[in-house]
Amino acid sequence: MDILKAINLTKIYGEAETKVEAVKNASFTVSKGEFISIVGPSGSGKSTLLNLLGALDHPTSGKVYIDGRDIVTMREKELSVFRRRNIGFVFQAFNLVPELNVEENMMLPLLLDYKKPDRVYMNELLDILGLRERKHYLPNQLSGGQQQRVAIGRALATKPALILADEPTGNLDTKNSRDVIDLLKLSVERYNQTLIMITHNPNFASVADRVLNVEDGVVMELGGTAQ
Ligand SMILES: Nc1ncnc2c1ncn2[C@@H]1O[C@H](COP(=O)(O)OP(=O)(O)OP(=O)(O)O)[C@@H](O)[C@H]1O
Ligand SMILES: [Mg+2]
Repeated sequence: MDILKAINLTKIYGEAETKVEAVKNASFTVSKGEFISIVGPSGSGKSTLLNLLGALDHPTSGKVYIDGRDIVTMREKELSVFRRRNIGFVFQAFNLVPELNVEENMMLPLLLDYKKPDRVYMNELLDILGLRERKHYLPNQLSGGQQQRVAIGRALATKPALILADEPTGNLDTKNSRDVIDLLKLSVERYNQTLIMITHNPNFASVADRVLNVEDGVVMELGGTAQ
């Protein structure tokens, strides 16, 4: 079953001499449960593509369907609820709320939805992320790597169907990076989630089921044409 379908997705920034075709006519589908990695040089359009897939940015043309829903034409209000319930985002910038502690930051998407956090699952996440002893700390009392792990915990807290991650290990050392990838993989397998992850690390790209290569805005399946 397809969880995501992109059709002729194009994003153009600017006009005339400042015009940048960041994503050019990308079409591909992602099945439920797949782990896709996105690779490609800096400035090739990876983040732009991911933002389009998560409806954080609006395409110049083309379509994105998530679970059969057209997210391009969805209204902003409906979209923000849809995103919160179905997509977990992990960015390089953690976007943690400075006034909330580790646990509160992780539970925020649930609380915004008036959902009761699953205590057992939250504790499991805190354990796996190595944050249990830090759960009452504020973001500014944490290292960069710890903040990144809180952001990952927040993305996983709602058990979203789709996880979109933009270099989630960009600020971590090798050991922590490996742990984070293992955690994401574990979560994906256990909850039958789908993970689309941008990475510059060829080792992490190779643990994915499929690799999409972005070059100069063109998205290609590595070893063939994107389907
Ligand atoms: N808001 C914007 N306005 C104008 N141009 C933009 C904007 N965002 C991105 N671009 C341009 O689109 C192109 C693709 O950028 P993008 O951030 O998607 O690259 P990337 O592959 O994620 O690079 P990196 O690996 O360095 O993160 C770049 O040339 C960039 O300058
Ligand atoms: Mg980027």
